[in-house]
Amino acid sequence: MRDLFASDPLRFERFSLEAAGIFLDYSKNRITTETLPLLAQLAREAGVESLRERMFSGERINRTENRAVLHTALRNLDNTPVMVDGVDVMPQVNAVRQRMARFAESVRNGEWRGHTGQPITDVVNIGIGGSDLGPLMVCRALHRFAHPRLRMHFVSTVDGDQIGCLLKKLNPATTLFIVASKTFTTQETLTNAHTARQWFLDAGNDTPAIARHFVAISTNTQAVRNFGIDPDNMFEFWDWVGGRYSLWSAIGLSIAICIGPDNFEKLLAGAQAMDRHFREMPIEKNMPMLLALLGILNGNYFHCHSHLISPYNQALDRFPAYLQQLDMESNGKTVDIDGRHITDYETGPVVWGDSGINGQHAYYQLLHQGSNVTPVDFIVSIEHPDAPPAHRDILMANFFAQTEALMRGKTEAEVRAELAAQGLSGEALEKLVPHKIFEGNRPSNSILLQRLDPQTLGALIALYEHKVFVQGAIWNINSYDQWGVELGKQLAKKIEAQLATSEPTTCHDASTNGLINYYKKRRQV
Ligand code: F6P
Repeated sequence: MRDLFASDPLRFERFSLEAAGIFLDYSKNRITTETLPLLAQLAREAGVESLRERMFSGERINRTENRAVLHTALRNLDNTPVMVDGVDVMPQVNAVRQRMARFAESVRNGEWRGHTGQPITDVVNIGIGGSDLGPLMVCRALHRFAHPRLRMHFVSTVDGDQIGCLLKKLNPATTLFIVASKTFTTQETLTNAHTARQWFLDAGNDTPAIARHFVAISTNTQAVRNFGIDPDNMFEFWDWVGGRYSLWSAIGLSIAICIGPDNFEKLLAGAQAMDRHFREMPIEKNMPMLLALLGILNGNYFHCHSHLISPYNQALDRFPAYLQQLDMESNGKTVDIDGRHITDYETGPVVWGDSGINGQHAYYQLLHQGSNVTPVDFIVSIEHPDAPPAHRDILMANFFAQTEALMRGKTEAEVRAELAAQGLSGEALEKLVPHKIFEGNRPSNSILLQRLDPQTLGALIALYEHKVFVQGAIWNINSYDQWGVELGKQLAKKIEAQLATSEPTTCHDASTNGLINYYKKRRQV
């Protein structure tokens, strides 16, 4: 890449673009002007454009579950009809969004009160996976827009320490629980919801009071009713919204409460702007397409097995975890859409990450000198309204420096000159030289937002959603099912029954039996 930059002064202009308020510099990839047309040809041959159209127009492209894939309809603020099996879904989408907005506003302005007449102070979203990560990530990212009275909490794990510690701090009279589950069968969520309900009743409240403190978000009305939540307190969504694509739906209720319905709508508008860009622009000028194709270049041709998401806005610290589900649950497949086992190419990479600056002082060593090459997406906003001015340029200097260091590296000649300038020579210098060489030539994308606000965040999330779509299309896999999470769930159910007895368990392999029995002997009954 050093040579490519040296030989082309226009490389930055050539390999960067702006869309929906997001600027992408992808010039620090191992590409030439010949690479992009070839990658675009790959996308065309794989039929990405026609699949894109089939997705937007409501075809059942999720073939293993026989469902449409229409998270884009949730942010179709123009209200153009979107048909599923001949029925326009927009009236129901709009109706739920209006209900959400009314409810969110009433919690925010204190009209919605707990059963003792006090306004709500704490909102607890109980959900997991897509029913947790999206709302949690967005509420953290947009904390500057949060309502000052309302504290938002997210409970996901069935490790009771999480909900146990939280409940100790809450007042039942001023707490609202949102039970968020697409299926309303997820064990972790239902266990936490039952615990919250019992805690509420144990505080001396009667069952009718539950209606002021528990609402549900689901596609499963019957299960919500069975749990004891009045369907009047339920916000609906539909099977054509995948869990990891659901923050735009009623699953975003906690977001709407936290930042307000107007800001929630701006989040949708940002995503819609990226949807338009994705749907309308040719592959070569299409940001999600380019990100996807560069990922394919790095994964399938340069054999990089993981991909780092490195946000330099602290408020985006949960964005990597959110993308991890989005990407790995979507594209972690080895069977193609026609049921054939994929043997001759790799599919989704390991996606990981954390706050970029913290990463620099932890795992970046491996990025620079490790034996595996890890492509990085660096993400930052230009404005940081709450930051003391002295911090701003230090942050940005580090951001730019990391992208440059990964690309340029440091040659042996540079290392020798540097050590000599420090006064080293002879054996002392020779010993250090190999340790101080950086190979460089390590790819990264730089993503810049003007500011981290609802609109740009919406566009950023949609950018990655479409990237995942394009990669799934090229790998010929169904990005919209997740059968791989089933086996563990089934086995856990069986083992749960075995844990209910004190008899030694013998029906598994030696390791699993051994672990279960070790636990049984030591647990406190
Ligand atoms: O087990 C995986 C999964 O189904 C995810 O796809 C989903 O986001 C999560 O569990 C939660 O599911 P639900 O919203 O139905 O509780």
